[in-house]
Amino acid sequence: MEAFGLALQKASASEQINQREIVALLSADAEQMPALFAAADTVRSNTVGDAVHLRAIVEFSNYCRKNCLYCGLRRDNKSLPRYRLAEDEILQAAGKAAALGFRTVVLQSGEDLFYSAAAIARIIERIKQKHDLAVTLSLGERSREDYRVWREAGADRYLLKHETADERLFRFLKPGGDLRERLRCLHWLKELGYQTGSGNMVGLPGQSLATLAEDILLMRDLNVEMAGIGPFLPHHATPLKSAAGGTLELTLKTLAVTRLCLPGAHLPATTALCTLAPDGRRMALGCGANVIMPNLTPPGVRDKYLIYPQKSDITEQPELALAGITSLLAELARPPATGYGHAQNFSGGNGNGKLEGRVYQ
Ligand code: 5AD
Ligand code: SF4
Repeated sequence: MEAFGLALQKASASEQINQREIVALLSADAEQMPALFAAADTVRSNTVGDAVHLRAIVEFSNYCRKNCLYCGLRRDNKSLPRYRLAEDEILQAAGKAAALGFRTVVLQSGEDLFYSAAAIARIIERIKQKHDLAVTLSLGERSREDYRVWREAGADRYLLKHETADERLFRFLKPGGDLRERLRCLHWLKELGYQTGSGNMVGLPGQSLATLAEDILLMRDLNVEMAGIGPFLPHHATPLKSAAGGTLELTLKTLAVTRLCLPGAHLPATTALCTLAPDGRRMALGCGANVIMPNLTPPGVRDKYLIYPQKSDITEQPELALAGITSLLAELARPPATGYGHAQNFSGGNGNGKLEGRVYQ
């Protein structure tokens, strides 16, 4: 049997595959792709099940101290109007998420030191006091102490994408950055008992299939509970404006192989993928994804969180978006999950004790 078939057989039998085998899967041609996607879909169904977790995302500040070459929020992008939500506005957005039935709110921002560790902790505490919501943070690289304080305040999960496992490419794309420092943050988060998410972009300039395989292996080694995988989409106001973006096919293949290599992880159908193809969400759900993250950022500022152009979720009202998701899920016979959606392999407690002693879906 050829390399693709052998690797697929092995991965489908839950055997660990190596970098060469991952590359063979990522090389799937148009004829092989359906088998790869079907295998990922089967593994997804057998491990995390058919339910789809809905997480409300609130992008509360688009200020960023970093200058990543690919990102529209980079500090040198002077054409972007910046905003910061006040604490009460963040609380209101979280309240709206709870009222709409979400069980998780994801608080996301650029790397904005305007919000002190104590201010973020207060927001987490207030959300936890008022609502029955799991809290995910996605605030970039901070000190171990900041992460500790937020965990103590009740944060359950943290998303920090490694973006690319290629150290040289990482340094190029993130001036002043260092992949090892980012990995150190991910280790801290794990140590502190966060359910930890990482992820990467697909189709970055200079990236190869071998690099993408390294991305997957890195996440397998880290044993991440979540992996956000989306295409790189060139943004006109960044140095990478003329670069080619990631393709739909390669993103779906990467998602599918990630499902095979990290069977129990939560994998979102990312907004970037939905931006690339109108049917992206449906396709991702058929290739291993089991999470959707609708945007609950208040409408007045939502169009300013422009990490890449034409972000697909900037205009839709949450109620409308939810109605669309509900009908898609019904059509696919994939029920919306009713629990918090904690990771399957997660055994850590929660800082405020709220999550202890319960059974989660
Ligand atoms: N295309 C796709 N994804 C991007 N991100 C940032 N810029 C882009 C882009 N041009 C993603 C990164 C980062 C998050 C803020 O958004 O993965 O983690
Ligand atoms: Fe800032 Fe993150 Fe964008 Fe980099 S990718 S500029 S850290 S928001």
